[in-house]
Amino acid sequence: MQKIIAANWKMYKTRKEAADCAAALVAGLGNVLPQRRQILVFAPFTAIAETSRAFAGVAGLEVGAQNFYPAREGAFTGEISSQMLHDVGADWLLVGHSERRHILHEDLGIVADKCAFALAEGFKLMLCVGETLAEREAGELGSVLERQLSSALAALSEEQRRTLPGRFAVAYEPVWAIGTGKVAGPAEVLDAHARVRSQLEGLLGADAAHIPLLYGGSVKPENAATLIGLDNVDGLLVGGASLEAQSFLQIISAGA
Ligand code: PGA
Repeated sequence: MQKIIAANWKMYKTRKEAADCAAALVAGLGNVLPQRRQILVFAPFTAIAETSRAFAGVAGLEVGAQNFYPAREGAFTGEISSQMLHDVGADWLLVGHSERRHILHEDLGIVADKCAFALAEGFKLMLCVGETLAEREAGELGSVLERQLSSALAALSEEQRRTLPGRFAVAYEPVWAIGTGKVAGPAEVLDAHARVRSQLEGLLGADAAHIPLLYGGSVKPENAATLIGLDNVDGLLVGGASLEAQSFLQIISAGA
């Protein structure tokens, strides 16, 4: 499986900063692409068009949005629809990020609606799952992952489930490792990813083997090669260290 290295720019970057960073990525990728790595950038809404323009015509580089409202259009003041995001060049939608679950209070039902809607509208979908420190310490890792995965897939039609390979990825991001500098150790990542894989097998059968599993949470140039080399780690989702093109480029080429 080609490894996916995804940037989550969160609420950072003006249009110019995004365009400059995207251009630096294109210039710096050299021979790393497209054989070994697929690169995604989840840009803020206002910078999606610039990022997508900078990536146009370069194989292996795609743009996504970090959020959307699951309706085509309507009286939803302040919201952005997936069609609007398609219009500015987004191919991927990110759903279930812990900052949206915990800071913006998105519950399992909203996450499930968004997953079904994103797929119905023809997007590729990256679903984030992960436990808080309190849940880990209470021994709830398995049940949290099970709840987040099964509820997110519950609203999918049979046809949507069958066509998930190629347009669905899961990012395991322990909440306690996001933006904290505290990366999960190899044993913790191996254990969590094996659990995610086996739960996906229970939900999707043999197709689960073809769903890329990404690790996210304080990925840096120094730890990327170890993480990407672990069993069941098919990619990385990178926040802080993706904001500078040079550090993201080092992560992209780590272990390639
Ligand atoms: P981080 O963020 O790399 O800054 O920890 C990861 C994420 O939130 O996706």
